[in-house]
Amino acid sequence: MMPTISQVYLDGKFLPPEQARVSVFDRGFIFGDGVYEVIPVFGGRLFRLPHHLARLDASLAAIRLRNPHTTEEWKTIFTRLMAEHGTSDQSIYLQITRGVAPRDHAFPPYPVPTVFAYAQPLKYPPAEQLTQGVTAVTTTDIRWQRCDIKAIALLANALLRQQAIEQGAVEAILVRDGVVTEGAASNIFVVKNGRLITPPKGPFILPGITRDLVVEIARTKGVPCDELPVKIETLSSADEVWLTSSTKEILPITRIDGRPVGTGKPGSMHARMFALYKEYKQAFIQGKVE
Ligand code: PDD
Repeated sequence: MMPTISQVYLDGKFLPPEQARVSVFDRGFIFGDGVYEVIPVFGGRLFRLPHHLARLDASLAAIRLRNPHTTEEWKTIFTRLMAEHGTSDQSIYLQITRGVAPRDHAFPPYPVPTVFAYAQPLKYPPAEQLTQGVTAVTTTDIRWQRCDIKAIALLANALLRQQAIEQGAVEAILVRDGVVTEGAASNIFVVKNGRLITPPKGPFILPGITRDLVVEIARTKGVPCDELPVKIETLSSADEVWLTSSTKEILPITRIDGRPVGTGKPGSMHARMFALYKEYKQAFIQGKVE
């Protein structure tokens, strides 16, 4: 079911969603030629906006499109979209494609990007997923070699997530050459002997904003944290495994491929990091941190 959204932003206009129309010749539709962002909004404030806009710039540079808006323009668009949902927690989705052009793989010489954005109330994971943890399955990472670009072409991610769902799991943990990359739509953390380990950034993972925040909080609070390759075997000997994303925050994974992770219950390190994350979020809502 579509969420109740009374207005979206499309190419300079704010419109009811049913009046927002994109050409069938849009390269986003034809080639998946575009990039996107998902930005959480807590207490009416855009969480980690500079980080999301920096990642957007990196994605745009990687696909050789210029950013159609300044930071101030983006803020104006987001603020207007957010107004509909008051101060409730929400997320902004934005996408930029290479626009309308005759179908040709080569870029159009003078692209006019299509810019689309909307805000919707944030749907947090059900409470029992936090208290009990979630199930994941490992699977081969069938994606391309530029997973660092937040590309709208998510067919592989959709296939992988669907495979996990059909196996009764919530997320697929992707494995490339024996090494964990990330989830189908999340980053992965492992806890082993009191240390956090998360795969290093590179072409095979999306540099998650939540991932970076968890690393930042861990370092600030003296929780040992390494950015190191995680072999698939490490998952079976881990004390805890988590997934992170802007919409799921930090979620414990308590079963992988049918076997319990550690004790099979969310661990004490998760409780500690999630409390620190919520503390940070609260300080952000109160305007104490940017
Ligand atoms: N996805 N890796 C992938 C492949 C993702 O799609 C996402 C997020 C993440 C986590 O990134 P962040 O912490 O910046 O949300 C990692 C978003 C939420 C989505 O596609 O809806």
